[in-house]
Amino acid sequence: MSHLDNIPSTPGKFKMDKSPYIHRLRWHSSLTKLTFWSLVILGSILIFFFRSPSSSPLPSDHSRRSLSTYDWGGPSWEKRVRSSARVRSRNGISVLVTGAAGFVGTHVSVALKRRGDGVLGLDNFNNYYDQSLKRARQALLERTGVFVVEGDINDSALLKKLFEVVPFTHVMHLAAQAGVRYAMENPSSYVHSNIAGLVNLLEVCKSANPQPSIVWASSSSVYGLNTKVPFSEKDRTDQPASLYAATKKAGEEIAHTYNHIYGLSLTGLRFFTVYGPWGRPDMAYFFFTRDILKGKSIPIFEGADHGTVARDFTYIDDIVKGCLAALDTAEKSTGSGGKKKGPAQLRVFNLGNTSPVPVSDLVSILEKLLKVKAKRNIMKLPRNGDVQFTHANISLAQRELGYKPTTDLQTGLKKFVRWYLNYYSQGKKAAG
Ligand SMILES: NC(=O)c1ccc[n+]([C@@H]2O[C@H](COP(=O)([O-])OP(=O)(O)OC[C@H]3O[C@@H](n4cnc5c(N)ncnc54)[C@H](O)[C@@H]3O)[C@@H](O)[C@H]2O)c1
Repeated sequence: MSHLDNIPSTPGKFKMDKSPYIHRLRWHSSLTKLTFWSLVILGSILIFFFRSPSSSPLPSDHSRRSLSTYDWGGPSWEKRVRSSARVRSRNGISVLVTGAAGFVGTHVSVALKRRGDGVLGLDNFNNYYDQSLKRARQALLERTGVFVVEGDINDSALLKKLFEVVPFTHVMHLAAQAGVRYAMENPSSYVHSNIAGLVNLLEVCKSANPQPSIVWASSSSVYGLNTKVPFSEKDRTDQPASLYAATKKAGEEIAHTYNHIYGLSLTGLRFFTVYGPWGRPDMAYFFFTRDILKGKSIPIFEGADHGTVARDFTYIDDIVKGCLAALDTAEKSTGSGGKKKGPAQLRVFNLGNTSPVPVSDLVSILEKLLKVKAKRNIMKLPRNGDVQFTHANISLAQRELGYKPTTDLQTGLKKFVRWYLNYYSQGKKAAG
């Protein structure tokens, strides 16, 4: 019999007893029991909510509710978080890497971990491209000792918890909705991750004690319709050609605001077409490789008057060196408790290769490496966000970060193709 069975459902059902005194006594003791068990039940409910893994005490809005599907929290989870973020070298830093299961995030996380820094990953494993590739990168990170927390940068409760468990010195913010053309299909995903997510992250960082220094990925796409080459950080960036570019440009302005008001140290990196092993399947060098091997034709765009479309392809290892140098030279944020104490560092750097290559040359290199002739389908560059060329001036990064790219496209693609053939020979299917 459960104790709940002792409690009458209505006082009227309470059986009258012989003496009024005994009656009063029983009534009193039942009331005490009722109060006691009500408190026990109430207590259990409260304990359940406070200890629940997603620790979202009664979601207050729809976005929070949809974000709380991720499973996080609890003592063993915290232990993994702490252990992954533990610094193992003298003068090491502890870094929260957002977008860690992504292409750049994986490489940066491994490089940081290998030199003894504490690294904790965060990624929502969205399905923008083949999720099994993200899971394979996660497995690689696990082997290196990096734990990737599954969650969204819009989840403030999760971010606050992470900063409560680990006083991160740095944030390497790479989580974003990438890709230029997809913005016409799913514009809100860009607003969600690149604007709302960035603001949410900065809100948590500004209130963290100590405030971390933040290095984050902007993009060469902010140069948009700028025609002055090579692109310099001083050039205009007010003519984005895609919503993706517009959200990255907005990110740079948002960074300015948080630096100005709260004293957050912020460094934006404008990456130029990054490629390499574990790359992104939505990028041309990746799906060209897949389609050439399948015997499918590949679209090669040309600009107005048969103009060449060219990209400043930058090899992943060079980008990683630039990211680490940006983290190492980042000054501390100056605020505390959400209040600015003095001026803080605010920087933007181009990270490119400074040698644009026509896309048709990229295809010729791939043909040689794959030993397969490509079926080229020459088409006019559609007006869907792509620009005709990109070319980085990297003198600022060279001066301030010691950034010096060393890998040419031929060498880098050879490494990519070797990885691709090896990865997809292991029974994995190249999606698309
Ligand atoms: N690869 C390039 O050529 C290039 C060029 C310019 C800029 N960038 C920028 O560099 C960064 C890294 O790019 P990448 O090529 O590694 O892309 P990626 O798509 O491989 O990596 C981004 C990762 O972030 C995750 N993510 C997205 N939204 C999230 C959210 N709301 N919460 C948590 N995780 C989320 C994704 O699941 C993904 O794993 C991005 O900010 C991108 O815009 C990349």
